[in-house]
Amino acid sequence: MWRRGSMGMLMWQLLSLVVAASCVIVASGLGQGQRVTSVYDFPDGRGFRADLEVIEHTELYGADVNELSMTVRVEGQFRVRVQITDRNTDRWEVPRSLVPRNEPKNSNRLGLPQEALIKLTYTTNPFGFAVTRIANNEVLFNSTPSVRTSLEGVESPSFNSMVFKDQYLEISTHLPGSATLFGLGESTRPDGLPLVKGKTYTLWATDIGAMNVNTDLYGAYPYYIDVRAGGLTHGVLLLNSNGMDIKYGGDFLTWHVIGGTFDFYFFAGPTPLDVLDQYTELVGRPAPMPYWSFGFHQCRWGYKNVSELKYVVESFKKAQIPLDTMWNDIDYMENYLDFTADAVNYPEDQLKSFVEDLHANGQHYVMILDPGISMAYENYSTFQRGLEQDIFLKDDDDKNFLAQVWPGPVYFPDFLNPKGKEWWTNEVSMFHEKVPFDGLWIDMNEVSNFCNGSQCKFNGVIYPNHNECYLECKKPGSQWDEPPYKIVRQGAYENIGDKTIAMTVRHFDGTMEYNAHNLYGLSESVATNDALRITRNKRPFILARSTFVGSGAQTAHWTGDNAATFKDLEYSIASMLNTGMVGLPMVGADICGFADDTTEELCNRWMQLGAFYPFSRNHNTFGATPQEPYVWEQVAASSRAALGLRYRLLPHLYSLMFEAHNRGAPIARPLFFAFPEDAETLTVSKQFMLGSGVMITPVTLPKVTTVNGYFPKGTWYNLFNNFATKVESKGEYVDLDAPLDSINVHLHEGTILPMQESRLTSTEVMKTPFTLVVAFSASKPAGYARGKLFIDNGDDVEMVIRKGRSTFVRFVGQQSEQRGVLSSKVVSGDYAAKEKLFIQTVIILGANGAPTALRINGELVDSSSVTSSYDSATPSIKISGLNLSVGSEFELQWTTKSSHSTV
Ligand SMILES: *[C@@H]1O[C@H](CO)[C@@H](O)[C@H](O)[C@H]1NC(C)=O
Ligand SMILES: *[C@@H]1O[C@H](CO)[C@@H](O)[C@H](O)[C@H]1NC(C)=O
Ligand SMILES: *[C@@H]1O[C@H](CO)[C@@H](O)[C@H](O)[C@H]1NC(C)=O
Ligand SMILES: *[C@@H]1O[C@H](CO)[C@@H](O)[C@H](O)[C@H]1NC(C)=O
Repeated sequence: MWRRGSMGMLMWQLLSLVVAASCVIVASGLGQGQRVTSVYDFPDGRGFRADLEVIEHTELYGADVNELSMTVRVEGQFRVRVQITDRNTDRWEVPRSLVPRNEPKNSNRLGLPQEALIKLTYTTNPFGFAVTRIANNEVLFNSTPSVRTSLEGVESPSFNSMVFKDQYLEISTHLPGSATLFGLGESTRPDGLPLVKGKTYTLWATDIGAMNVNTDLYGAYPYYIDVRAGGLTHGVLLLNSNGMDIKYGGDFLTWHVIGGTFDFYFFAGPTPLDVLDQYTELVGRPAPMPYWSFGFHQCRWGYKNVSELKYVVESFKKAQIPLDTMWNDIDYMENYLDFTADAVNYPEDQLKSFVEDLHANGQHYVMILDPGISMAYENYSTFQRGLEQDIFLKDDDDKNFLAQVWPGPVYFPDFLNPKGKEWWTNEVSMFHEKVPFDGLWIDMNEVSNFCNGSQCKFNGVIYPNHNECYLECKKPGSQWDEPPYKIVRQGAYENIGDKTIAMTVRHFDGTMEYNAHNLYGLSESVATNDALRITRNKRPFILARSTFVGSGAQTAHWTGDNAATFKDLEYSIASMLNTGMVGLPMVGADICGFADDTTEELCNRWMQLGAFYPFSRNHNTFGATPQEPYVWEQVAASSRAALGLRYRLLPHLYSLMFEAHNRGAPIARPLFFAFPEDAETLTVSKQFMLGSGVMITPVTLPKVTTVNGYFPKGTWYNLFNNFATKVESKGEYVDLDAPLDSINVHLHEGTILPMQESRLTSTEVMKTPFTLVVAFSASKPAGYARGKLFIDNGDDVEMVIRKGRSTFVRFVGQQSEQRGVLSSKVVSGDYAAKEKLFIQTVIILGANGAPTALRINGELVDSSSVTSSYDSATPSIKISGLNLSVGSEFELQWTTKSSHSTV
């Protein structure tokens, strides 16, 4: 029996009951799904709750949960939530302290009633639900099992009915052939960005190097973006932290999940940027990153002592290569203990004065912390305070869970425990008194453990820096260690408890590792973000290895341990873009390769590419050949040029950070984000955009001096050679010159790009005059261009438009046959005025002819200091010697003598 209420405007429709009734469910051993027994509408007309019951009981993967409830809510205009769970017993859900689920703001700017863009319909027996885009009636998601008739007339089941057991949840959706899917990381993808038909994507946080392809890496992102014909895009999030396999069959997608609930969020889009906006509104906007973190970073495992750090910093300066931030891996620690400095090689006073020198030079310092806290030294006060506060994770015998990492035997802090967070903040603050670091790098937080099993015993002998297990542990064997459904781990590890902590480990509130495993890195990220903010009262910079949906609100991310090969260089592009698409815009890969010895040519190409990663860091493993960019003359020259351009682009990158923080927009984006209606862009995996107007086409192969890249329609001006060349594209692949000393960076028509001058640190760049590059089409006489600029001191905790503390300006350019105008609209100007920031140069690309007269705010310019020149090859006008305050609105007009008319 079931009942349907009056659903008001939203109309919960019954979907093709006929199809469902005639549906033959093929015996899968997993039953025939559920039927709807009753439905209760919410009084506000924006959702309902339905009761479901199992049709047929089965035993495969355990007993069914007989009584389920489904809650459907339309949340604002753009998102619908569908949760299906046990009606009678609470089940594990991702804690709101980690992923907030923010309510949607009224995003309808006109204040009109919010009509949802998508709607939900369902069938009752068997139960299935569908999500449809209202504007065109396209079905975006449909879990209703059905029989498909192939072209040959053969009936075949496309997928099983929904299954809901304690340790096994299965659900599928139909997909049309026209869908292109992205997401479901984290893994290294040799096949490029779009998901590949026939592949299984496993989501289980694992300490396994990023050089291993097609395997579950450090993070877990149960989220995908689906682009349909014409570029219409929506997003689907399954907010569930349990281990899962997601099988992509081309015309269907199936989730196999080993716990939690079905908690789906559908984001209506309809553009890729809209989807990111809607998704990050829910899970948390990307955290603002400090301005300095957009400078270049140098790191390696194996910097022996403070003198070596100094030598590296000096060598950058000598080679005139920009360097903003110097890093330390675990080398600085005493016996690999967090919050200690090695007394011989990194004495605290030496390290402190090294960091103070960096600060005096406008540079910064980041150091690593691992979560494992050694329990082997009586005199280790960090550990003693942790014991007193009782903040370590517990084993199944209620003792502190013993594991082994770099320092030897360790306990792991429980970052879900408020006391654990307090203890961590206190340790961070106390250590900061000794070494005034600017950011923290949190590694090994999958969490990585060199042993398997529980109740491990330590015999008192420490072997530091030893990555083979020497503890004696009880072999795993519970239903949690060996769940009935085994997720598919393509990597080196077979069981879910291998290389991590036992699945039976408990948090302070009883939360089991089995459920919370994928969240350990996020919980440490939340704790570390709080700790840094409290300690420094400045904008936190944190680099995290294990990440989850929502991690972008806390940290930056690097793609992990890659290797020094051209393949790794190539795959880093898709990895970076995939990370940006889950709301982690501050991302990069280890430049020149982490594992193995790099080569001059590889490092040269990688420095050129890495100069345009949002997070740009060269990092190398212990014992490998040195790879700082000054090591080879050629690499040094290429780095000066590529990083020189990056530093000139810092105002653009920082304005993109502001956009990311407000709307979730990735900083580095796939081409389809800018050109969703151009289907060719969907498969481009070796190029990327910085924002919507700057495109990078790096060399990804050895021994070549050309590169083939896709250019969406329009004029593209070469930024790297100062607009000496350009590409006029109809939407086509183009061969470009790519000699060893250059990288292809192009600016698309329609863009206004704010630039500054290159310096050796971002701190110096901030003080330099601005150049505005206004790019019009080179082939059309009339054109339009837009851009924006956000500026603040780069280090305030908040990144907001605020009187006196920041400046936000929009630029608009328009050109007709004989005249053009560039104007600024200042939303908040005091900060730029206070800092006396000014625009010195304006470059107009695609200009219609040589300038004949120039007016600023209506006044004819005849000052001798302002000069303009015309280059008919580009064609472009360069206006130099200006003094336009960034904080004040201006209008710059020019008239031209076009080739076909005279003024
Ligand atoms: C620092 O390490 C380098 C490289 O091993 C070594 O040559 C140098 O003597 C060390 N300096 C100090 C002060 O220990
Ligand atoms: C703690 O004791 C160990 C020896 O067990 C010693 O090597 C280390 O320097 C001591 N650390 C502190 C902080 O006193
Ligand atoms: C953990 O299990 C994996 C098998 O999945 C095995 O390769 C590894 O050696 C085990 N490690 C230890 C320390 O037992
Ligand atoms: C620009 O103009 C301001 C006053 O509007 C003046 O204070 C400043 O010195 C000028 N800067 C340059 C470089 O001419």
